[in-house]
Amino acid sequence: MNVQAVAGHTVPAGLSAPARLALNVRPVFELTRVSVQFGRVMALADASLSIFAGERVALVGANGSGKSTLLRVLNRLCRPSAGQLASDATARHAMLFQRPHMLRTTAQNNVALALWLAGTPWRAARAQALAALERVELAAIAQRNARTLSGGQQQRLALARAWALQPDVLLLDEPTASLDPHAKREVEALMADFAAGTEARRLTMVFASHNLGQVKRLADRVIYLEGGRVLADLPVELFFNGALLQAAYPEAHLFVKGEMS
Ligand SMILES: Nc1ncnc2c1ncn2[C@@H]1O[C@H](COP(=O)(O)OP(=O)(O)OP(=O)(O)O)[C@@H](O)[C@H]1O
Ligand SMILES: [Mg+2]
Repeated sequence: MNVQAVAGHTVPAGLSAPARLALNVRPVFELTRVSVQFGRVMALADASLSIFAGERVALVGANGSGKSTLLRVLNRLCRPSAGQLASDATARHAMLFQRPHMLRTTAQNNVALALWLAGTPWRAARAQALAALERVELAAIAQRNARTLSGGQQQRLALARAWALQPDVLLLDEPTASLDPHAKREVEALMADFAAGTEARRLTMVFASHNLGQVKRLADRVIYLEGGRVLADLPVELFFNGALLQAAYPEAHLFVKGEMS
C-alpha cells in the first residue's frame, strides 16, 4: 500500500477525508464555507472541503460551474468573498493553465528563469532546466524559442517548469483541453508520472477536466460542481458507479450521462 508520513503518523494514501480528519491529520487545504462573488455571479458558493497530501482530485462540472475559480482560490490567485481558506504554508505550489504562458526566449531559459526567480543560482538553474527538459523529452529542442513550439510541446514544457520547481501541490486547469489526442496522451502520462511521485513523497494534485476518461485514469477523488456549489465529493469508483450516483447525486448523474452521450 502507498503510505506517507504525516506529522509522525503513517497514513494510508487511500484513507478517506473524514477518516483523516478523525485521525487529526492536517489537510493541505481546508475550505470552510468559501464563496467567491463576481458582481451578481456566485462563482463559488458556500464550499466546504479538505484536501490531503497525496490526493489526486478532479474537479468536474459544466462550463461556468466554478472549477477554475476553485483552483484560483487554492492557489491564492483569488480571494474568497466569504468563508475561510486554511492551507499548509510550507507547501510549494505550481499551477498549469489550459494555454501555457511562455516567455519569448528558449525552452531551456523558460524553465531556468522560473528556478532563478525561486532562488537557484543561474548556472545551476540552467543545468536543472536541462534535466527537467530531458524528463519530458524536450531536451532536443531546448534552444528553440518556446513561443514557436506546438501546443503539446508547450504544455510539456510547462510541466517541466512545474516539475523543476519540485512542488508539493500541482494545480492544473484543463491542461489537455486544447491538445490533439496524441499530445493529450503524452501530457496525461506525464501528469500520472508526476502525481505518482516517489515512495517518500507523493504530490498532491488538483485538476479541472471536461474529459471523464482522463478523470477515471488520473483521479482518486472527484468533486462535482454546479453553479458554484459542490454537489458531490466522492472517491472516483463511487463517482462512476451509475446506480449510486443516480440515487444519491442526481445532478451529477445527469452531468455524467450528458458527457458520455
Ligand atoms: N474574473 C471574473 N469576473 C467576473 N465573473 C467571473 C470571473 N471569473 C469567473 N467568473 C464567473 O464565475 C463563474 C464560474 O466561472 P469559472 O471560470 O470558475 O467556471 P469553470 O467551471 O472553470 O468553467 P469552464 O469549464 O468554462 O472553464 C462563471 O459564471 C464566470 O462567468
Ligand atoms: Mg475553467
